[in-house]
Amino acid sequence: MKALILVGGEGTRLRPLTANVPKSMVPVVNRPFLEHMLEYLKKHHITEIVLALCYLPDHIQHHFGDGHDFGVKLTYVVEECPMGTAGAVKNAAQYLDDTFAVFNGDVFTDLDLTTMAAFHKENQALVTIALTPVEDPTMYGVVETDSQHRILRFIEKPSWDAISTNMINAGTYIMEPSVLDHIPAQTWFQFEQDVFPALLRHGELLYGYPSQTYWLDIGTPEKYLMLHHDLLLGRCNNQSLREGGWLGSDCDIHPTARLTGPVVVGENCVIGPRARIIGPTILGHHCTIGKETIVEGAIIWPETKLGDQVNVKGCIIGQNTIVGDNCWIMDGCVLGDNVTLGDENKLERGIRIWPSRTLAPHTITFDHRS
Ligand code: GTP
Repeated sequence: MKALILVGGEGTRLRPLTANVPKSMVPVVNRPFLEHMLEYLKKHHITEIVLALCYLPDHIQHHFGDGHDFGVKLTYVVEECPMGTAGAVKNAAQYLDDTFAVFNGDVFTDLDLTTMAAFHKENQALVTIALTPVEDPTMYGVVETDSQHRILRFIEKPSWDAISTNMINAGTYIMEPSVLDHIPAQTWFQFEQDVFPALLRHGELLYGYPSQTYWLDIGTPEKYLMLHHDLLLGRCNNQSLREGGWLGSDCDIHPTARLTGPVVVGENCVIGPRARIIGPTILGHHCTIGKETIVEGAIIWPETKLGDQVNVKGCIIGQNTIVGDNCWIMDGCVLGDNVTLGDENKLERGIRIWPSRTLAPHTITFDHRS
């Protein structure tokens, strides 16, 4: 089976992390997210993969080339302007001549694709949609099935009294090529709103494949952070972490520095005297952490430098960013790439700083009482 991965979206909710890289290329435990997806597909013996690109396509093409170095064969289809999830698949129709799988390029899962493909064949379905349970279905598109898993209804963001299931569309599909006949060419078209409900109305066989397995999309900074915490705390059965090791080569860690809990340190990092790195935390390659600085539950992208006595908790800091001494960055703040933060800045409550900004010392101070 071939797979198509949708990686063309702008990832607006993940900004400013997606200002310079597409969402599928943001690092997850120091590797582009898409590398994890390719590993996953290889595990299920899928090696012929079409990537549907649009936003910042060069990033992906330069990194992966023809896929040979990653053990897969990649074909790229680039949209001039976004075509939507279904429009993007239609755009790649020439490469999809047999049963194929479609993935959102921002979902981390260990869904059993091999069993899902067998389920699809057994039911002779036109489309099989992976379903995953969520705590609050009112935020999502809910999928109602009968006892044999045939899909009966799609309900977008239902109210609590209209809910009969908490299973939602998990963004992974197995399809027959004839689905493409239901998608107009060169038109913005979405599977969820435009294609699947119309197929149901035509009486086509759509099945839901329910799964309780790990599933998370990295669409927002909160969820991107959560994926790292889950990976480091061993909540998603992921082996590649342990294979990759926790401490990169050529690091200079001062003997008085303390690393506690699950911490991944990239290559060539310097950690200063009495610094404390508290897991779950990831330091990218070539990062420098100043003396007496505390980093807890954070993701720091490569080549970033934190000064002395900095305090970072539950935040994401982009690449090649410089944080001055005595800064305080808390509660879901996100700093983009190439930001320079002067000394003694205090950022709290999900503040997001766009790439290449320079803030003078003491520029932003947030007081809990204000
Ligand atoms: P937001 O702007 O934050 O909603 O993110 P997004 O643009 O990535 O949209 P969304 O999270 O809904 O997309 C789910 C998946 O589909 C992601 O992997 C996107 O890259 C991909 N995607 C969304 N729209 C398009 C599109 O028009 N073309 C292509 N090729 N992929 C798309």
